[in-house]
Amino acid sequence: MNRSREELMKAVREQMPEHRWAHTEGVMHAAVALAKRYGADPVKADLAALLHDVAKYWRTDKMEQIIREQLLPAELLEHDKSLWHAPVGAFVAEYEYGITDPEILDAIRYHTSGRENMTLLDRIVCLADYIEPGRDFPGVDHIRELAEHHLDQALVAGFDSTISFLLEKKRRIFPLTVIARNSLLLSMENNQA
Ligand SMILES: [Fe+2]
Ligand SMILES: [Fe+2]
Repeated sequence: MNRSREELMKAVREQMPEHRWAHTEGVMHAAVALAKRYGADPVKADLAALLHDVAKYWRTDKMEQIIREQLLPAELLEHDKSLWHAPVGAFVAEYEYGITDPEILDAIRYHTSGRENMTLLDRIVCLADYIEPGRDFPGVDHIRELAEHHLDQALVAGFDSTISFLLEKKRRIFPLTVIARNSLLLSMENNQA
């Protein structure tokens, strides 16, 4: 790692308004707690959470340029801009902050959408983003309760809330989120068998 954790925290904090930094700290705490509970590496969870929203407040034209130039999935450009900061954030984490661990980069890349066969770290960062203490949306307390004992059930409930919200607002659903949810449900069925 090129920079110390403190230097990284300072650099990330400068990229966002104070309320988003408070969210980032909440996700860091939640991700470390989940990592300890479910047997992932807490140091990786902490770093991925620290960087997950690094590009959240970047200008959309700058994000679009990175998506085009770095050949990130062009499909993103047809979907909600709120999805862009995740893959752009992974790019920034690698090329500006020197993160080389592919597991950490993937956890950043897929923290909003999810993906098929999510790794343990992917699931932890994605769930931590839903349940950090500053979050307040219908059903969040139920997801927090599930997260105490059932990582995958909690994450499915998180995706359910996202998808329900989009359905209600008559907005398009990013296909990778549906794929992620199906994949989690399938692995839960297989684990029961
Ligand atoms: Fe995010
Ligand atoms: Fe976030």
